[in-house]
Amino acid sequence: MADRAYAAPDLIRAKRDGLALAGEQIRWLFGAYLSGEVAEEQMSALLMAIYFRGLDDAELRTWTAAMVDSGERLDLSGVGRPTVDKHSTGGVGDKVSLILAPLVAACGAAVPQLSGRGLGHTGEMTAILRRLGCVICAAGPGLAPADRRLYALRDVTGTVESIPLIASSIMSKKIAEGTGALVLDVKVGSGAFMRELADARLLARTMVTLGEEHGVRTSALLTRMDTPLGRAVGNAVEVEESVATLAGQGPPDLAEVVLALAAEMLRLAGLDGDPAAALADGSALARYRDMIAAQGGDPDAPLPVARHTRVVPAPATGWLTRLDAHGVGHAAWRLGAGRARKEDPVSPSAGLLCLAKEGDWVEQEQPLLELRADEESRFDAALAALGDAIEVGPERPAQTAPVIDRIGM
Ligand code: URA
Repeated sequence: MADRAYAAPDLIRAKRDGLALAGEQIRWLFGAYLSGEVAEEQMSALLMAIYFRGLDDAELRTWTAAMVDSGERLDLSGVGRPTVDKHSTGGVGDKVSLILAPLVAACGAAVPQLSGRGLGHTGEMTAILRRLGCVICAAGPGLAPADRRLYALRDVTGTVESIPLIASSIMSKKIAEGTGALVLDVKVGSGAFMRELADARLLARTMVTLGEEHGVRTSALLTRMDTPLGRAVGNAVEVEESVATLAGQGPPDLAEVVLALAAEMLRLAGLDGDPAAALADGSALARYRDMIAAQGGDPDAPLPVARHTRVVPAPATGWLTRLDAHGVGHAAWRLGAGRARKEDPVSPSAGLLCLAKEGDWVEQEQPLLELRADEESRFDAALAALGDAIEVGPERPAQTAPVIDRIGM
């Protein structure tokens, strides 16, 4: 906490007018916000001022540190292996974590994949990490609680899309999680938060700098998200594809992203394991099964199957030049794979399979997508959501590698 008190309207005016806030002012602000002295409407106004004016490097460092310090910082020093985590900014068909955590653990690291929010059984988590080297669970409420409140406020005040606010939100949780190293998968394209490469680069650089400033060895890969990653989009279908990838039979684009992230994680962790060998020899799949069992699941449990399927045929013969991530993601959501409101249920069996990928030759009427839903009535909305996501043309599209660039020290 800062020694002296400030007045929230003065801080809002200063930021509104383009001035930088002092470290002490930011510390005071967080203390006063968490104690209720600074009201939600004052924080909302400040967030909007930050949305327009940004935060400079020093402000961002203190802002992030204040979010970390609003809760606990886990100590993972007892797990007995180098710790390294991955964070993805999210995309369509992004099932990478389920494959990557056991894969990197099979190569000798400990991967504490805390995602989202929920109950965090930290004692149990550390024990599984020590024994198996990977755990995937929701973070406890004690990690960066200031971020939880700010994120909810940003959601309803039109202030989510701000690079300093996104960077500090993501990094505060990862720093508090206690990982020694972190690889960021910053997705770029129509199905991602960052649609433009320049924005993705700036976000990646900002997060890498924040990580390094807080003692977390951090790097980022920029990866393509203008078309779905792999073939499966939805819950059960993505689990199935993850298991196939762990068995060495995944779609090439997904395997390429997973192996690139794994190599980067091992490099930051100072390990020289061979992730391709861990996929080929079955050790990554065995670690996945152990992780599911250790977390109370049954790795052999049958996956839910949707009651109805519908095929989307190719509109013409030619090269599939476009299978747009945004349209496909929107369709999967309409099938029931995602939520419209926080309280809505998600259907575990809903989703779709991409039976062809961008760059494939297709014949007219050949099935391109297989839609899956629990209610037949969902198909019309899903087809409408696809919009112009599919294009077939006479020119073979240029091949684009799924990993665009690496950013780091
Ligand atoms: N994810 C986060 O955790 N925070 C953001 O601000 C955006 C995405």
